Amino acid sequence: MRLAPVLLAGALLLAGCGKADEPADAPATGEASIDEPAVEPTAAMGEQIFKRCVACHTIDKNGSNGIGPNLHGVVGRAVASHPGFSYSGAMKNKGGVWDAATLDAYLAAPMKALPGTRMAFAGVNDATDRKALILYLESQSK
Ligand code: HEC
Repeated sequence: MRLAPVLLAGALLLAGCGKADEPADAPATGEASIDEPAVEPTAAMGEQIFKRCVACHTIDKNGSNGIGPNLHGVVGRAVASHPGFSYSGAMKNKGGVWDAATLDAYLAAPMKALPGTRMAFAGVNDATDRKALILYLESQSK
């Protein structure tokens, strides 16, 4: 076991040599990538994720209600306000307006975020996917 520190020192030395060519700020770049999503979410990515919703929702202007309400212009719309859709008591009592934050919380885990909701959907797990999805919802308002 007395050899271990020597081997470790050797390994560090080799690692150090390998890094000699890299820019001095390399570790900082590595740190940033932990917080920032690897891919920048876009509305186009969100359109792909919205495929998980189309079994129950339309999003075109004046689109019909299905199992869920039409989602055209849902960002900025009062919760449970789409004409002709019969919302659950839980959704009717929620109040407020759908914005990026309330949508993010609801879509992550609908049945946990709003117990009693009739939206039988497990949720969109990935935060980057949710961000892209919300950008897409936001873009579908004209
Ligand atoms: C299995 C069917 C189903 C799926 C899949 C589904 N939803 Fe829903 N959604 C519903 C139902 C039903 C409601 C009404 C819930 C209530 O009244 O409690 C709803 C409500 C909503 C609302 C609130 C709308 C309003 O007018 O207040 C939003 C926003 C929403 N869904 C977004 C989504 C998105 C985005 C997806 C895909 C990631 C999705 N839903 C997937 C059935 C579904």
